[in-house]
Amino acid sequence: MRPTLDFIKDIAVNAGGILKNFSREDLNIAEKNPKDLVTQADFASERYLIDAIQAAFPEHAIFAEESGKSAGSKDHQWFIDPLDGTLNYAHGVPFYAVSIGYALKGRMQLAVVYDPERDELYCAERGQGATLNEMPIQVAQRTKLATCMLVTGFPTETENPMDDNMANFLRFNSNALTVRRLGSAALDAVYVAAGRLDGYWDAEISLWDIAAGGLIASEADAAVTDVFGNPDYMGKQPSSIVCANPVIHQQMLDLLAATREARGAVTSKV
Ligand code: IPD
Ligand code: CA
Ligand code: CA
Repeated sequence: MRPTLDFIKDIAVNAGGILKNFSREDLNIAEKNPKDLVTQADFASERYLIDAIQAAFPEHAIFAEESGKSAGSKDHQWFIDPLDGTLNYAHGVPFYAVSIGYALKGRMQLAVVYDPERDELYCAERGQGATLNEMPIQVAQRTKLATCMLVTGFPTETENPMDDNMANFLRFNSNALTVRRLGSAALDAVYVAAGRLDGYWDAEISLWDIAAGGLIASEADAAVTDVFGNPDYMGKQPSSIVCANPVIHQQMLDLLAATREARGAVTSKV
């Protein structure tokens, strides 16, 4: 049995409440690696979400950031980031979200991103468009990269510094209006969906980060691919993403390709 969007909205809002009301004294911030943190709020939100999904859909598979892959039918695959923007959250910067995506037989169907600080609920169902607090949203219509405000992120683990995103950042920063680095991949994607930002790319990103935001952006008429232009960005872990209206999306792909060529990075992931 497949879930309803309403079920996912409910659990996303409840998980957001857990994050918003978590007492700072109980956060117990720990290092996953020198560039990444985790808090008790990440674990509490994820525990709640997994329990709620397993109670309703015991046969479904779940891929969640803090606990990895659960057993279950791959026909019904959930992607959960219980707290996207942990570094912001742990430092008291109110820019983070809960991200939940559901795929049926390998195709994303349902997506919810919830920003508890602003009480903003972004949703999409394949073929039905995207909404923010129940109102339809659409990507911005700018067609010149020079006028666009873009956003990106940086991986919290990099094996090879040559694969990092800095060369792209510099090139986009001089060719676009500006580039933001806000610290939540899920919100980056839905801000593009809502037309607040013109384009988002991430050179190395996990599926739980982009599963929901990618569908919401695409249902808001964004073109969404990996950094090589491959539409199957959900087909590998980690992956990468570029999303923007189709005209800006192509300009972003061209610029990413130019950066790769300039670096002569034949083996580069970015
Ligand atoms: C991170 C954020 C960030 C992105 C990192 C992610 P987390 O997720 O989405 O914007 O640049 O690659 O790991 O760790 O806060 O859930
Ligand atoms: Ca994340
Ligand atoms: Ca997270």
